[in-house]
Parts: sequence; structure tokens; C-alpha cells
Amino acid sequence: LASGVVSLRPYADGDMWILEQTLGDPRLMVHLNGPESPEKILERHRRFVAMSADPRLGRMFTVLVGASAAGNVGYWETDWDGEKVWETGWFVLPGFQGRGVATEATRLLIGVVSMLEGHGSLVATPSVSNAPSNAIAKRLNFALIREVDSEYPPGSGKHLRCNVWRLALPASPRKE
Ligand SMILES: CC(C)(COP(=O)(O)OP(=O)(O)OC[C@H]1O[C@@H](n2cnc3c(N)ncnc32)[C@H](O)[C@@H]1OP(=O)(O)O)[C@@H](O)C(=O)NCCC(=O)NCCS
Repeated sequence: LASGVVSLRPYADGDMWILEQTLGDPRLMVHLNGPESPEKILERHRRFVAMSADPRLGRMFTVLVGASAAGNVGYWETDWDGEKVWETGWFVLPGFQGRGVATEATRLLIGVVSMLEGHGSLVATPSVSNAPSNAIAKRLNFALIREVDSEYPPGSGKHLRCNVWRLALPASPRKE
């Protein structure tokens, strides 16, 4: 993958097809307790579009490889151990996987959250069985804190064993 070819732009109204081809595809959701329904995807799409309205609370991006949409990455606020932190998550379309796209997109995302006023950590919680996602966190210098059992999707009664990875964000000039 040539450097500079991966970029991020804010998630847009025309991007729901990317969710349909990632979150809606059972093959991509084996580590997330199965695909999301069309109703859930529409709900999520609306939430992602709305999130772009106030970047202080979180934001979703569409990952581009050259001019082509290749997936999504984002950040949102969450609580860990009584501390407010940013959480991140990523998806890459099958045709773009295995080329370092998610790693590069997450590297760019770390640059974005590092510029924000606010929280000192970025957390990622992939399933313990999600080898590529755990490899991304490790490569980008997240520290493995512990494992947790979480309910996923929330309210489903299904359980997921996840690794908690945490990256301390550099203090940006705006935070001081
Ligand atoms: C996880 C996902 C985003 C990875 O995207 P990607 O662009 O293919 O990832 P990259 O090419 O940047 O590879 C990341 C790492 O995973 C490794 N990897 C890729 N596929 C792998 C596999 N099947 N088994 C083990 N490691 C794998 C790569 O070698 C790389 O590790 P390295 O840096 O140590 O070499 C993509 O597989 C995906 O969208 N999966 C479904 C949705 C999902 O699980 N999202 C994450 C929820 S936490």
C-alpha cells in the first residue's frame, strides 16, 4: 500500500451502502455475534450522520483508498473504570482487506483524536478471537489492559469476550 493513499472524510448521507456491505454481511460479523438487521443499519446510519454534527462527542469517517470508499472508522465517548475515554472501531470492505487499510485508517484516526480537547485515552475492544483487529491495536502501540465479557449487541442477551486495548494520547497544545 503506497503511503498517503489512505485518507478519511466525514461519514456522509450517501454512505449507508458501506454499512450494508460490512455490518450487514455475516462473513464480516463472525466476531460480533452476527450481522445487523436492515432496521439496525438504518438506525446506525442516521446516528453516524448525526455524529458528524458535533465532533466534540464523537465522529465517524469513511475510509478512502485513493478516491474509493473502503470502509469506516470512528471515535465516540465512553466510560472505562470511571474515566471518560474515546473508543474506536473499524470496518473494511472485503475487496480492500489484507492490505493495511484498517491499520493506516486507525493511525489517521489517532491523529484526529490527538488534536481534540478532552480525553486522555483511546480504547478499542475487539473480540479476543478477532485476530486482525487485535493485530491492529498491537501494531499501533495500544496496551492490552485486560479481557472483559460484554453483551453485544447491547440488549441482545448475547455475550462477547473482548480484549480491552488502551492508547494514552499525547497531550495536545490545546489541552494544556
Ligand atoms: C478487522 C478489519 C477491519 C481489518 O481490516 P484490514 O484492512 O484487512 O486490516 P489490515 O490489512 O490493516 O491488517 C491488520 C493486521 O491484521 C492481520 N491480519 C489480517 N487478516 C488476518 C487474519 N485472517 N488472521 C490473522 N491476522 C490477520 C494483518 O497481517 C495485520 O497485522 P500485522 O500488522 O501484524 O501484519 C477487517 O477484517 C474487517 O472489517 N473485519 C470485519 C469487521 C470487524 O471485525 N471489525 C472490527 C471490530 S473490533
